[in-house]
Amino acid sequence: MKPLVLVTSRIPSSVLSRLDAIAAVDVAKDGLTREALLDRVRDKAALVSVVTDCVDADVIAAGQSLRVIANIAVGYDNIDLGAAADRGISVTNTPGVLTDAVAELTWGLILCVTRRISEGERLVRQHAWKGWTLDFMMGMELGGKQLGIVGAGRIGRAVAARAPAFGMRVVFAAHRASGGSQDAGGDAAVVPLDQLLVSSDVVSLHLPLRPNTRHLIDRRTLARMKRSAYLINTARGPIIDETALDWALEERLIAGAALDVHEHEPTVHPGLMRWPNVVLAPHLGSASRETRTAMADLAARNVEAVLGGKAPLTPVAAGDTV
Ligand code: GLV
Repeated sequence: MKPLVLVTSRIPSSVLSRLDAIAAVDVAKDGLTREALLDRVRDKAALVSVVTDCVDADVIAAGQSLRVIANIAVGYDNIDLGAAADRGISVTNTPGVLTDAVAELTWGLILCVTRRISEGERLVRQHAWKGWTLDFMMGMELGGKQLGIVGAGRIGRAVAARAPAFGMRVVFAAHRASGGSQDAGGDAAVVPLDQLLVSSDVVSLHLPLRPNTRHLIDRRTLARMKRSAYLINTARGPIIDETALDWALEERLIAGAALDVHEHEPTVHPGLMRWPNVVLAPHLGSASRETRTAMADLAARNVEAVLGGKAPLTPVAAGDTV
């Protein structure tokens, strides 16, 4: 009898065919409630999950036959790694295949917030644009400015690689949670976080969510930023204390922010909704057709490997980079 696999979201047909060839696949096309996840994981040898699935100790305990949890994401803060390890269950993620997509989205947000693109578009759609004037909706130009990248992992470095196209110089703060690398590659300097914050014109976060990165950006760190600087987050929402960010915007301690991820997704902090200088995106970092297909495929290949008695292709390990 083929092993049973639970997939918690719609996946491309090519990926489904790959899984169908080795397993009996139960696809929850419209997502799963917690109760349904607890119920349907019971007899499964593999769980293909996404970031919105909370795969905690209870889910892992319910999955008595589980051999692998393949998360379709580079981040895996939604999975209780300890509970999985105790049961000898492999946990895999999808590093590498989404690096460029997230780096591109990051640059989209940088341009959007510094050149006030969403703000301007809202104005146009509200029929409130009165016409061109010399001092209308001026933003900040990127050329000659400093981009501070917090986290020198794959995505942080891919964002940095695109900086010369905009004439920006780059500094990194290599947090332990981003793999501990003190060498960001290339010519970019690696500086302490505090130095990055006081000197950067754009600060972009590229760290996994861990206990030591939760609320890394809080009142204290926000107050260290330049008043003219922008904060970008395409990593995980809880890395920023959103109430502190709302306060910093109220106090005009920073010039603006662009957030693709949020502390309590899909809820967006109501305070942040009111600021025209905040760009709010709905967690789109890896959302290109090419990348989402590659992510799902990599997750399926991990399932194939483990159920076939081989080592997983991309197992997660504490200290992995994003
Ligand atoms: C998405 O957020 C991911 O971690 O891949």
